[in-house]
Amino acid sequence: MELKEPYKPEEFQAYFKARWEFLRKPLGFPKGSEIDDFENISLHVMAVDQKDSVLGVGRLTYLPSGEGQIRYMGVDEKFRNKNVGGSILAYLEKEAVKIGLNRIFLNARNDAIAFYKKNGYDEAGKPFKGFAEIQHVRMEKSLGSPEI
Ligand SMILES: CC(C)(COP(=O)(O)OP(=O)(O)OC[C@H]1O[C@@H](n2cnc3c(N)ncnc32)[C@H](O)[C@@H]1OP(=O)(O)O)[C@@H](O)C(=O)NCCC(=O)NCCS
Repeated sequence: MELKEPYKPEEFQAYFKARWEFLRKPLGFPKGSEIDDFENISLHVMAVDQKDSVLGVGRLTYLPSGEGQIRYMGVDEKFRNKNVGGSILAYLEKEAVKIGLNRIFLNARNDAIAFYKKNGYDEAGKPFKGFAEIQHVRMEKSLGSPEI
């Protein structure tokens, strides 16, 4: 497995297709529902196999508010629990540190909370209904980058 940032148009196509397949199709949402207004100001990463098939995806957005948000973390069902998601998360966190973020947040689906806890995120706030009426909770992690 290799982690790479999509660059060519066909890589972005594969990346968004995978995002839809892993995160939106299972909920019955149409193509297009996997894309938002922040794609151009985000860092994208995908895990691929030797044949360049996408095994997992994730995104880091440096929001206009100055906060860093991780979103659209999804792994092919057949490859879950093999540290694909953990590797993607670690990559995005490393990039976040590079751009000077010392804290990161995300809105976790209820059944992904354990995964994020395992990776050092703490719940911050009350659960709320997010995308597709799924219960989410805000989670945060300090990246511990040194103060300058
Ligand atoms: C959440 C997700 C991205 C994790 O990716 P992954 O590649 O399976 O995760 P990893 O293999 O790196 O880590 C797996 C660990 O997290 C835990 N974990 C992962 N998903 C879990 C879940 N749904 N419930 C409980 N624990 C979970 C596993 O128990 C495992 O811990 P262990 O090694 O102690 O057994 C993946 O399960 C996924 O795509 N889920 C569906 C979409 C989703 O919910 N995305 C997150 C939206 S906020």
